[in-house]
Order: sequence, then structure tokens, then C-alpha cells
Amino acid sequence: MTAENPVSVTIQGRVAHVVIDNPPVNATSQAVRAGLDAAVAQVEGSGAEVAILSCAGRTFVAGGDISEFGKPPALPDLPDVVTRIEASAVPFIAALHGTVLGGGFEIAMACAWRVAEPGTRFGLPEVNIGLVPGAGGSQRLPRLVGIEAAVDIACNGRMVTAETLRDLGGLDRIDADPVAGAEAMAADLPPRPAPVSARAVHPVRDGYFAHMRAGLEKRAKGQRSPLHNLDAIAWAAELPFAEGQPKERALHLALRDTAESRALRHAFFAERKVARPDAIAGAKPREIKHVAVVGGGLMGAGIAMSALMAGLRVTLIERDDAAAESAHGNLDGLIGGAVKRGKLDDDGAEALRGRLSVSTDYADTAPAQLAVEAVFEDLEVKRVVFRDLSAAMNRQAILATNTSYLDPREIFDGIPNPARCLGLHFFSPAHVMKLLEIVRLPETAADVLATGFAMGKRMGKVAVLAGICDGFIGNRILSAYRRAADYLLADGALPHEVDAAMRGFGLPMGPYELQDLTGLQIAWANRKRQAATHDPAERYVPIADRLCEAGRLGQRAGHGWYTYAEGSRRPERDPEVERIITGYSAEAGIDRRAFSAEDIRDRLVAVMVNEGALIVEEGIAESPAEIDMVEIHGYGFPRWRGGPMHYTGEIGTDAVARSMRAVAEESRGTWRISKFLG
Ligand code: NAI
Repeated sequence: MTAENPVSVTIQGRVAHVVIDNPPVNATSQAVRAGLDAAVAQVEGSGAEVAILSCAGRTFVAGGDISEFGKPPALPDLPDVVTRIEASAVPFIAALHGTVLGGGFEIAMACAWRVAEPGTRFGLPEVNIGLVPGAGGSQRLPRLVGIEAAVDIACNGRMVTAETLRDLGGLDRIDADPVAGAEAMAADLPPRPAPVSARAVHPVRDGYFAHMRAGLEKRAKGQRSPLHNLDAIAWAAELPFAEGQPKERALHLALRDTAESRALRHAFFAERKVARPDAIAGAKPREIKHVAVVGGGLMGAGIAMSALMAGLRVTLIERDDAAAESAHGNLDGLIGGAVKRGKLDDDGAEALRGRLSVSTDYADTAPAQLAVEAVFEDLEVKRVVFRDLSAAMNRQAILATNTSYLDPREIFDGIPNPARCLGLHFFSPAHVMKLLEIVRLPETAADVLATGFAMGKRMGKVAVLAGICDGFIGNRILSAYRRAADYLLADGALPHEVDAAMRGFGLPMGPYELQDLTGLQIAWANRKRQAATHDPAERYVPIADRLCEAGRLGQRAGHGWYTYAEGSRRPERDPEVERIITGYSAEAGIDRRAFSAEDIRDRLVAVMVNEGALIVEEGIAESPAEIDMVEIHGYGFPRWRGGPMHYTGEIGTDAVARSMRAVAEESRGTWRISKFLG
């Protein structure tokens, strides 16, 4: 191997060893493609009878080099290299380990045989970046494992284990040492099977593709790539490989140039960027083995569950025995749910219970390295909790609050060694939602922040650094978005129109359905809290307050912005709500007018972008990537649109600025416009 050629060939008698060494994940860069191409030629001329293809390092080829996607394709193309391996005069055995993804799986399918280490994972994740496979993956996979498994893998981006792939007929052997396993096969070589590309595709029942299309369309919420993958697999079912493969390639190349693929690639890179903010550069996270969680209600139980699932020991503190018992019940419910959904087996559940203790005595938090507080949203209650924690725990122990709206500086005021204090703002349900805002106080030490990031990663979260402001990043944008939606109601829209417009944009729910689902109380309490400091020049629409006053607190109350039939979660329009809305408009002298779905969408997105830009301009977020990640992972902004800031780049800052000016014009004195849109 040389710096230029990451592929080496060693001939040992009748066996050739071809090894790819392109850290970190052996991506199919141009150098790897060229190296493989040359390796096939070398093997063919060597007199070897069989070649074993493996990778150095922690994984077999785990995909393409995404950074090449924005550039013109560099030869040789992967499909040609894959074909060359499949057609080689010397048959190849793939010796696989780690994650065999995308181009890696395509290369493996071109080999005559496949041997893998137990637990190796296989997938075609192109769908996740808006693409179809580009080197025959969608054409070979159905020929290897059947159409139904291929659809699940390619359209849903599902990874399968070596064991599953073997059961599907796609793997010849599982061996703890796959290269040794391949050598054993080479010593007693079975007859060479037909190349995968030449195999027949087993037909599926009539109507299968139409049925799958309908299901994918519903789940994809506007994203096109799952459907493109389905099309490509249908070509495998209908066309010979020699026709299907070029069609797949052409589609792959065309999709690289779409807004959807750009957005998904942006999201991929933004996730990596926000994980390493400048604020933690060079800082070393501390080791955390044991966390204390104070408060075992909705959030505390979810946070404790996340920590337990991440392998940590958890001491949960509640205020009295009855609350402790109820907290225990909450965790039992979460553990039982994980078992039911197959996320844990019985032994795993036992291990989790073994690492959990629930107590009412702060002394039990002493061995923990970090505490997260999730008690009532009340400044005094939280201050007392931290006073007790700091008395019970080591002076270095990290102290975190899960507050949504209170100012962490006030919560931690007077706590000794404030460099160890931060906010860890989880989202509900905390064991499910990916987003974690890591809130930095002026005093917070870099290694404390880095520890928050390391813990978030261990819990499988997307952690995003935020500074202090009302609502931090996510809830601040949410509150602007909701206010703007309420202005639309006052000016002429109805809740179902707003919800439909945002669903049409790709959000799983509109703002009003979502409020009904989560309940209207918390936002109501916040509005009351803010009333004292409310700028009188800012427009205030009291429609939501009137709903709350009428007891319309959401789905659980049987009605909120919609009404719900007994036991049903399906929102139905309610004339009473529409009377409250139009009544308010009349009272405020507003001449109601119609807003199209585009009008609504453009305004609400512009408000999100504007608030996001203000947050960046104020230094609350380090960059626009943070805004996009918060919106995607915490608020259902469609990933395939890349987040509000990326979306602005796609449709043009001018267009968004125009919409924001319209919003500002419709509610004068209310909106501060960011420099970005100004
Ligand atoms: P909750 O009312 O479900 O749970 C609070 C728990 O804290 C109760 O079990 C209570 O017994 C316990 N508790 C109260 N005082 C205590 C004390 N002195 N010592 C020990 N335990 C005490 O409330 P929830 O929804 O879990 O919220 C907790 C915190 O999380 C709040 O600060 C809230 O703003 C924040 N949060 C809530 C979210 C939500 O969607 N509910 C989302 C993100 C943050």
C-alpha cells in the first residue's frame, strides 16, 4: 500500500489477498476505486485461483465519500469497478466485518461468495441522503435476497445483521475471523455460483408494488427518495440487469443534484458539526458512570431511562415515599415498554433494574459524578434542590438543570464552584426524543460542556449547544412560530388550515394539533408569567387564552383547538372554536381574509428562520447548523428540507425576507427582523 494506493494485493500461492486500507471507514474514494480496479487486473495476471477481499481497520467499506458528491464524478466509476470484480476471471470471496454499507454492500454483492463476522451489519443507506444506490445495489439485492427484503433494506434504510442476511440467502458463512473463514472456503472451493447480476428475481404477488408505494408515500411525508428506491427495485423485477443497472445509475446521478439530497447531506454534516462546537475544542470530557436524577415525573423518569439504557448507574431522588413509589412505577412502565418493543430482553431489563435505585435521601447521590434536576418548573423548588445536591455531592460533581424556561443563572445562584453547572434540556418523551440542548452559563467550564456532549452521545442524542435566553433555542423559535400562527388565526385563517399547510410542508403535525396533543396549560402558564414584562407595543392575540379559560386544554380534556370523540385521537373541527376566533377578530375590528396554504407556510417558515437568525446573531447558537438540528430533531421539521436555515439557502434569502416583511407589516411593532433577513 502507498499513500496514493489504499488497496494492496498479496499473492500467497493460489490465494490472492486484496486489502483496502482507507481509514476511518474505508469509503470508496477515487483512490480506492482505482486501487480496486488495478487489483483485479493484478489478481487476474497472478495465477491465483481465488481472491479474498477484506478491509483493514474497524469496518469493511461503510459507504461512499459523501464529500465527492458535490463534485464532478472522478473515474473510475464505482459501477464499473463492481462489474469488474463480478466478472473477474478469478472469483472473489468477500471477508466482511463492521458495517457493510452502500458501496461496500455493492462490492460485497459483486463477489462470488460472502463470509462475515457475527454481528456484521449490512445496508443500503443511500435513501437517507436522498439517493438510490449507484453501483447496482438496487438491481443485485433483489436478485440476492428477494424483492421484499430488498425493499425493506433500500426503501427504509434498514440495516440487517449477518445472521439475518444469511437466513435470507445473502451470506455463505459466518466466522469469528472472516478472513480465516474465507481462507477455509478457498482451500475447498465450491463450484462458482452464477454472478448475482445474472440471477433470476423471484416474482412478488400482484399489486405488491402499488401497496408498498402507498405505504411509503404516507410515511415519507413528502420525501421522495424512498419512492425512487422502490422504482429502482421494480426495475430489477421487470428488466434484465443490463437495462436496470444503467437506469439506476442515471437516477442516482440525477438525484445527487436535487434539493432533497442536498438537504439530507447538509443534515448529515450538520449533525457532525454541532457535536463539536468551538466551545469544547480541546476539552476532555470527564468520565461519568453514575448519575443522580432528581424528580421522577414525566421528564425525570425518561431521563433516568435514557441514562440506564446508556449503561449508567442511576440514583433517582424524589421528595417523599409516595412520589418515590410513583417514580418507580414510571420507570417500571418505561422498562416494560422497552421490553415489549423488543429494545430490551428480560436479562437486559433485569440489568437496568439492577443499576437503578430510588431514594428520598440526598446522601445517596454522593457517589454520582453528575446530577440532572427535573423537578417542578419553579425557581425556589429548584434552588433548594441544588443547595441540597451541592451539600451531598462532591464539590466537583456536575450539576445540570432540565428547566425549559427558567434562567439557569438564577437557579444556580450561590452554588459553590459554578464552573460545574449547566443546563441539560431534554425533550419529551426524554427516552425517545433525540434532541438535547446543552445550555451554557457564563461560568460553565469547557470540560463540563464536553462531558454533557459525551453523555448525550452515549445516550444516542443529538446534542446542541445553546446559550441563555427565554426558551433557549428550540422553545424560543416555537414560541415565535406559535405567536405568528395565532396572528394568522386572528387575521383570517382557521386552525385546520394552518395545520394542513404545515403538514403539507412535511411536518408530522401542525401547531394546533400538536398543542392539543401535548396540552395547552404549560404555554398558558408561560404567557401569564410573561404578561408582566410584555411589551405593550407587541401584538397580543388572546385566542389561546380564551380556549384555556373555557377549559379547552387539549386532547386529554376531550377538546382544545379541536374536539375529540370519546376515546378518539382524531381532531375534528369545532364550531365553538371557530366562533371564539371570529368573535375575537370582530371585536378587534379585523376584516378577516383568506390565506392560502402557501401564504401560511411562507409566513410561519419565515418566522422560524428570522428567530433562528436572531439566535445566531445574539450568539445564543454558534452557527445556523444548531438551528437546523434543533428544528429537525426536536420539532419535526422535515429532515429532507434540511432545517429552516438550509431551506432558506435553497429557496433564496430574498423570498424568505419578503415573507418576513409581510409578517411584520401585518403585526406592526411586534417583530424584530434579523440582520440576515433585514
Ligand atoms: P412532573 O410534574 O411530571 O415531574 C416533576 C417531579 O418532580 C414530580 O415527580 C415531583 O414529585 C418531583 N419533585 C418535585 N419537587 C421535588 C423535590 N424537591 N425533590 C425531588 N423531587 C421533586 O414535571 P415534568 O414535566 O417532568 O417537568 C420537570 C422539569 O422538566 C420542569 O423543569 C420542566 O420545565 C422541564 N421540562 C419539561 C418538559 C415537558 O415536556 N414536560 C420538556 C422539557 C423540560
